[in-house]
Amino acid sequence: MRKPIIAGNWKMNKSVAESISLAKELKENLRNVEGREVVVCPPFTSLFPVAEELRGTKITLGAQNLFAAESGAYTGEISPSMLKEIGVLYCIIGHSERRRYFKEDNSLVNQKAKFALNLEMKPIICIGETLEQREKNLTFSVIKQQISGVLDGLSTSELANIVIAYEPIWAIGTGKTATPEQAEEVHSFIRKEVFALYEEEMASSLRIQYGGSVKPGNVASLMQKEDIDGALVGGAALSADSFSKIVQY
Ligand code: PGA
Repeated sequence: MRKPIIAGNWKMNKSVAESISLAKELKENLRNVEGREVVVCPPFTSLFPVAEELRGTKITLGAQNLFAAESGAYTGEISPSMLKEIGVLYCIIGHSERRRYFKEDNSLVNQKAKFALNLEMKPIICIGETLEQREKNLTFSVIKQQISGVLDGLSTSELANIVIAYEPIWAIGTGKTATPEQAEEVHSFIRKEVFALYEEEMASSLRIQYGGSVKPGNVASLMQKEDIDGALVGGAALSADSFSKIVQY
């Protein structure tokens, strides 16, 4: 059985004070949640105060990015061990916004995932096609290439600590969600690809989140699908009310 994992990606939103107040509300709303893993990914400046606020709760902390080195002359970057030190367990890696604005590619995403895994942090690795690629019927070839690139050289035991987030780029922040059928089609394809690279048992325990305009009103129908094991939520994760509803779909 795969435990559903719902993660909130706050992106570049929320001051420290706003982050603490959102974390307080989530702590209260989600006090009795069972059978779900809940992750929040605030901006870097809020990670430490949110970690303090969530201490002792079942809500886990994630970062939105990291750099593939232990330490050194990398102005402006954050290392996995710095994140680990303040209690960050998950890290979103290779989000489409990082691929687009900061030119991250599958090989860099792969290096970052390896660094995170070495420090026992769990990468949430994002993949997904653009609208143009979908319209040209390239979705499956793009996903196949992304899967083999981001997982390159990762061992079977490392795979156990990875979450894949399928985020069709045309659905992110646009209000256009993939239908449950469109999402499931790609999720089951991803699982088959992972099965081709690893053992069946590993592929069947891999958690694959859907991301792209997930809201309280559409999460349940997505989560009903066989291969959809969670959600990576952007806009709707910025309010305690909507994120709590999504978690408790
Ligand atoms: P959205 O963002 O829910 O606002 O579409 C999802 C994401 O980018 O992870």
